[in-house]
Amino acid sequence: MDNGIERREFIKQSIVTGVTVAAAGANILGANDRIRVGVIGPGRQGRGVMKTFMKNPDVQVVAVCDVYASNLDFAIKDAKLEGAQTYKDFRQILDRKDVDAVIVASPDHWHALQTVMACQAGKDVYVEKPISTTVDEGRKMVQAARKYNRVVQVGTQQRSGDHYQKAAEIIRSGQIGKVTFIRTWNFGNQLPDGIGAPPDTNPPDGLDWDMWLGPAPMRPFNQNRFGVHPDRWSSFRWFWDYAGGMMTDWGVHHLDIVQMVMQVDAPTAITAMGGKYALKDNRETPDTLMVTYEYPGFVCTYEDRECNGHLLNGEGYGILFHGADATLYINRQYFDITPEKGRKIEAQRVKAANKQGDAHIRNFLDCVKSRQTPISDIEIGHRSTSTCLLGNVALRSGHRIAWDAKAEKIAGDNAASKYLSREYRKPWKLNA
Ligand SMILES: NC(=O)c1ccc[n+]([C@@H]2O[C@H](COP(=O)([O-])OP(=O)(O)OC[C@H]3O[C@@H](n4cnc5c(N)ncnc54)[C@H](O)[C@@H]3O)[C@@H](O)[C@H]2O)c1
Repeated sequence: MDNGIERREFIKQSIVTGVTVAAAGANILGANDRIRVGVIGPGRQGRGVMKTFMKNPDVQVVAVCDVYASNLDFAIKDAKLEGAQTYKDFRQILDRKDVDAVIVASPDHWHALQTVMACQAGKDVYVEKPISTTVDEGRKMVQAARKYNRVVQVGTQQRSGDHYQKAAEIIRSGQIGKVTFIRTWNFGNQLPDGIGAPPDTNPPDGLDWDMWLGPAPMRPFNQNRFGVHPDRWSSFRWFWDYAGGMMTDWGVHHLDIVQMVMQVDAPTAITAMGGKYALKDNRETPDTLMVTYEYPGFVCTYEDRECNGHLLNGEGYGILFHGADATLYINRQYFDITPEKGRKIEAQRVKAANKQGDAHIRNFLDCVKSRQTPISDIEIGHRSTSTCLLGNVALRSGHRIAWDAKAEKIAGDNAASKYLSREYRKPWKLNA
């Protein structure tokens, strides 16, 4: 109950009945019922996800919330949303008894709180990746989903790709031999100026900066921290208060597939090296990074180069599974199998056969009705996100991390452990 905001404040805002009563009385939907959806954070990704939801005839978007009026207006016009009510405060969407599910597509630092509060209000949740900025937040999201019996799907849509599933079957059945080494990467060249270094200013009209920051520390407005930009993905990603750089932004898609294919949920040890070596902008996260994960029986790396775009395997991103008999490369468009010399397996290319985002959202909608566990259930998304977060823990602490995945602890290492949780700015609180 004492969640998101202090209890006193909570009562003052008269939303005290919304939380427990609605959780107990969440709507039960039949196969032919429409799912009424609320959207929190219709920025670049939120608008795309919302429109994909709307392709399904059993979806009605009834409420949209953003703290930035321009994005709210744009979302309504762009999706030709007639009849949907608009809000500046997501808690008003959670208060609505007629909303069955919410999309959480705000910046990463909001995901945990908005997901937990939505679960408490009896809503099912489609939450974007990475699910959190700390391991502790992610665990609380899982606890809330279970406690309130909610369907929570994470936006790691590659899992719903037919060719990702097919590659997983091939690897698991031993066709490429024992896999001992996996390489994942993102490469690009943003030199010299990257996202630039604009000075702090007043926030633009129509933006509630305090509510954008939410549980993150109070800071003067900076265009790059806010990040919304017409020509690129928002740059909040490159600031530690709100996100985890490429390691969590893109790394989570790769590591999610690695853990799915290899049927593991966490590494046992992590090391990382890198830094901001060359870009002359005001980002905080590295422009160059190499993280190494040890799992039982194999090693996996994540590489990010933002100062040199030279391709690997002919591609700027992807995953290479190196097996005793062949190497399997996969990205969102296809996978390739390249045999080791003299091995029986045939070289082949298999193209992506379905739209991953569409299938992923349909899976969520079906689970909202059937109450089955979705393909990227919150526990899975939490484990994939944690693996990426631990890459950043290793980098920021400079330590080799020995990860106790069961306890979700780094035994005897306070310098690293401090990155596993974070203080929320008052009055925000996260209690599952
Ligand atoms: N699954 C994918 O492939 C994929 C792709 C891109 C982005 N994403 C994820 O989507 C999320 C959003 O990324 P984006 O690039 O669209 O960012 P964005 O900045 O374009 O959109 C975020 C929106 O949330 C709004 N917002 C901030 N605080 C809010 C609050 N308290 N209540 C309501 N709205 C609030 C912002 O004003 C903004 O309009 C990120 O977590 C990102 O990692 C996922």
